[in-house]
Amino acid sequence: MRCQKHLFQLPDDIHYLNCAYMSPLLISAEEAGVNGVLRKRNPSTFLPSDFFDEVAELRASFAKLIHAASAEIAVIPSVSYGMANAVNNVIPRKGQHAIVISDNFPSGYMTLKSWSNRHRAPIRVIVPNSLREGKVQKGERWNQRILEAINRDTALVMAAHVHWMDGTRFDLKAIGSRCREMGAKLIVDGTQSVGALPIDVKEYHVDALICGAYKWLMGPYSFGLAYYSDAFDQGTPIEESWMNRTNARDFSSLTNYGMEYTPGAGRYNVGQASHLIHTPMAMEAVRQLHEWGVENIQNYCAKLTQPLVEFIQSIGGQLEAPAYRAHHLIGFQLPENMDAQALLEKIRKRKIYLSLRGNSLRISPNVYNDEQDVEALIETLKEML
Ligand SMILES: Cc1ncc(COP(=O)(O)O)c(C=O)c1O
Repeated sequence: MRCQKHLFQLPDDIHYLNCAYMSPLLISAEEAGVNGVLRKRNPSTFLPSDFFDEVAELRASFAKLIHAASAEIAVIPSVSYGMANAVNNVIPRKGQHAIVISDNFPSGYMTLKSWSNRHRAPIRVIVPNSLREGKVQKGERWNQRILEAINRDTALVMAAHVHWMDGTRFDLKAIGSRCREMGAKLIVDGTQSVGALPIDVKEYHVDALICGAYKWLMGPYSFGLAYYSDAFDQGTPIEESWMNRTNARDFSSLTNYGMEYTPGAGRYNVGQASHLIHTPMAMEAVRQLHEWGVENIQNYCAKLTQPLVEFIQSIGGQLEAPAYRAHHLIGFQLPENMDAQALLEKIRKRKIYLSLRGNSLRISPNVYNDEQDVEALIETLKEML
């Protein structure tokens, strides 16, 4: 795969290594969004079936990306919304608890906290050990601790494929199979991985996968897509959209209040899911991801960041072991004595964009980056470290 910058409108003089913050817009998605705005000029061209068919197409396309069925996908406005639909429908037995990885993004954690208060069910936060423990690195032990913590009293496990702060990779296949064995639900925040790292929700036994669209899915902000397995088929959604009922397509008889939900995850679609602007933008972005191939994106990022990884290793910097880190989101833990803010300022002056999370530089490239972006970062780090 070659650099795909020509499909975006990123300025030539910046080095944007911050997809974990927000992806730039594909030109094609931008055009789809503008067409969406213009479409409302003349509502006579907008057919009743358009309210349903475009969303159906998007759900099918996203489903393919994660190896699910389109009926298992719901359109959500945010991760917190998608998390609430999942977490609220896990009813713990007396004495059960929830497990969550430490420093989980607040959209999931806060939802879990309110679940915990409501059900008086404790949350067990699984923390990593220090970065190195002899030869064992943080990711391996962290994964092991999660597996050890899951037992028959675990109602749900909230995790991610890739930690949003430093890119630590979680072995969802092992976690999912342990959850299945113990009867726990696995709820995954896919915001920092889906679109850049392949996932198979069936193979990994994921029960719910919640994704904001504006990062690795390259979609619009205030939009997301979620997967809910059949474990949630009888759940209660957080709102009651008429569009999620089986009689919704028949506009002439909407007040025959059909109480039957559309099958699968249909009940979890946000009200007005057929967003005139967001749906075509997301559709175009997911289409492009299919065209590139998610595995190719991950491999592109791996090749691109290889010189950076070698540089960090050459100065004795701390990086996670290859099996426990992703290539699209790299956490480089800065030396203790380093003035991280000063470093970040210097990086910004060079028009290099990345994030600082805790004491780690979070470097998150994608297919619009090239060798020069990585080289610019290495040069700046060389001066400062
Ligand atoms: C892992 C993760 N989840 C969720 C979000 C966004 O959540 P929400 O859509 O609730 O604003 C972010 C944003 O940075 C994130 O990194």
